[in-house]
Amino acid sequence: MVQKRILLGVTGGIAAYKSAELVRLLKKSGHAVRVVMTRGAEAFVTPLTFQALSGEPVRTSLLDPEAEAGMGHIELAKWADTVLVAPASADFLARLAQGMADDLLTTLCCATEAPIVVAPAMNQAMWRNRRTQRNVALLAEDPQVTLWGPDQGEQACGDTGPGRMLEPQELADRLNACAEGPLSGVRLVITAGPTREPIDPVRYISNHSSGKMGYALAAAARAAGAEVTLVSGPVNLEAPAAVRRVSVVTAEDMLAAAGLAVDQGCDIFIATAAVADYRPTTCADQKIKKTAGELSLALVRNPDTLATIAGRANAPFTVGFAAETTDVARYANDKMQRKHLNMIVANDVSRPGLGFNSDDNAVTVFWPGGQQAFAPQSKTLLAEQLVALIADHYQTVRSNTTQQ
Ligand code: PMT
Repeated sequence: MVQKRILLGVTGGIAAYKSAELVRLLKKSGHAVRVVMTRGAEAFVTPLTFQALSGEPVRTSLLDPEAEAGMGHIELAKWADTVLVAPASADFLARLAQGMADDLLTTLCCATEAPIVVAPAMNQAMWRNRRTQRNVALLAEDPQVTLWGPDQGEQACGDTGPGRMLEPQELADRLNACAEGPLSGVRLVITAGPTREPIDPVRYISNHSSGKMGYALAAAARAAGAEVTLVSGPVNLEAPAAVRRVSVVTAEDMLAAAGLAVDQGCDIFIATAAVADYRPTTCADQKIKKTAGELSLALVRNPDTLATIAGRANAPFTVGFAAETTDVARYANDKMQRKHLNMIVANDVSRPGLGFNSDDNAVTVFWPGGQQAFAPQSKTLLAEQLVALIADHYQTVRSNTTQQ
């Protein structure tokens, strides 16, 4: 399941007490929750209740210099990937329908580009009221807004009819269903970055890989719902949020760490790392001193992590990368066959500004019987499209296997 950033708006109504349970359920599902309360909501529940349950400060006022100095209302609107207003009072529905921005919650709703879900809660007569229904009809036409509920039944005031807020469990289940991504429940192991092969205590053989491509793929796979382990050579990048990183130095370390991560459970293995093909036969104990003549270095082949994992009896779905400067398609297809891969992503690294250590890349992906080219673009955007393509092919292969 994709972990979401949910901004929960609580408006004035007796159902506000149920929203405390809603926060607990959303947090239990792993979502980040920030709460914004209207003045009316504060009459029913204290901000402290939501602060304790969400673990985040609760915002109540638009013009609060202290809060704006931290996460300002525009930042908060951008932070959210879903706005859920529960309970949504008749007054709030009216103000939202008119596009008003006269308190923090309505201002956030105007400023955010995230989907807005509203869970109405009010007395049955207020819900049936012609003017409320006119506002509801306006909101139903708004592509950014979705209405969940209300439910029918006995109400706090003693009336019976439509207007009850959906139960917190129902709201949490619906949000969790929306948080399903194409890779929900799928375990990925991704290698990234260069390896360093030591010559002596101060020198090593390496290459120009920055890790950007692999890290972008790890972030995109996580956003698509996957559980991701990133086996990374030495790079200057932060691990993407909610991704497990295992740091390695040499090609031999990478093989060991990737092998262990695959043993622990792996459905898709993606090798973006630029692994050194050779390492010095021995690493000198002391710094090698300069002499007048030439220095010869004996090199030995490194183990191939990708080929080793793809060659396993129960190999995961494997995707390799190939950085080439000539005959890109031929070499890439050859690598795919030789290493028994499901797919290969070919980089033409002879093109300036693309590939190694740049922010952009352009690739052609090959698989048995097909190919797709991706134009030059940021590695972040490219990674999202590659993850979607890989997820598609993985699901096809998986459903073919289960049908056999
Ligand atoms: O890190 P960046 O700066 O963002 O750059 C990204 C990249 C250019 C490094 C990346 O997109 C890329 O193309 N990686 C593959 C680099 C390469 O040259 O691979 P290769 O042709 O040597 O190897 C083919 C495949 O086998 C690769 O998936 C590689 O990870 C894997 N391999 C290779 C050798 C080895 N000993 N072990 C391996 O797992």
